[in-house]
Amino acid sequence: MLSYINYQLTSYTEHDLHSPFVYNFYMELIKNKNPFDDFEQLNSIRKELSLNETVLSINDFGAGSKTWSTNQRKIKQITKKGIAQKKQAEFLYKLINKFKPKSIIELGTSIGLTTMYLSLPLKKSTVYTIEGCREILAFAKQLFEKNAIKNIKSYQGHFNELFPNILSDIDVLDLLYVDGNHSYEATINYFNLALTKKNTQSIFIFDDINWSTEMQKAWKEIYSNSEVTLSLDCFYFGIVFFRKEQLEKEHFSLKF
Ligand SMILES: C[S@@+](CC[C@H](N)C(=O)[O-])C[C@H]1O[C@@H](n2cnc3c(N)ncnc32)[C@H](O)[C@@H]1O
Repeated sequence: MLSYINYQLTSYTEHDLHSPFVYNFYMELIKNKNPFDDFEQLNSIRKELSLNETVLSINDFGAGSKTWSTNQRKIKQITKKGIAQKKQAEFLYKLINKFKPKSIIELGTSIGLTTMYLSLPLKKSTVYTIEGCREILAFAKQLFEKNAIKNIKSYQGHFNELFPNILSDIDVLDLLYVDGNHSYEATINYFNLALTKKNTQSIFIFDDINWSTEMQKAWKEIYSNSEVTLSLDCFYFGIVFFRKEQLEKEHFSLKF
């Protein structure tokens, strides 16, 4: 709560941003409310999922949940509480549409809705997505098939095993979206692994940076890393860049 109040008091809007790159980023990706054609389809899928009564047995390989105490979950519950909500998912879509990353890795597929937001903007991209829970991933794969999505490669297993394998198969990691296993150690480990395949255009996004004090610590360590040239704190998630055009390292809190 205190972190949220502090964020509300100190985060920037377009009026406070002196950096042209961050100003354009804010105006195009956060302030701009113009919908893309794909949003209609994605909204109606979200609506359907939010009514879906199918129950799944969850096998969580991560840091656990603060929302649920049993391992039985309905798709409609996951849609409302366990995945990126519309505003954030649409932001990810706009980000991909702007920066055109060709290789995208998502850690934490869940039911696959956000993976679709990652895959739809750029048909030539490949979205590699990893999910530990077999039943959830089976559901996500059906969703991809039903919507004829061709650029998602999904993998079932632990991030610790599969993420290094995928990294060794690609030349450059253009975009990383970490949305699972929110412990300090795991998050720093994924960041360090991802650094081995970054270039100056890469973008890494870490979800739930204020989920716990461990995650706050991990986020601070990530944006303080000397290879990071620019970091944006959107409270719910944080983004780091390695742009060489950024002459001095900068960090901004942006009102999301
Ligand atoms: C918050 S959800 C992902 C939500 C998804 N990105 C979205 O917005 O639609 C996190 C997912 O990561 C999976 N997960 C957590 N830790 C994992 C690990 N170590 N290996 C594999 N999957 C993991 C969980 O099973 C869960 O489905």
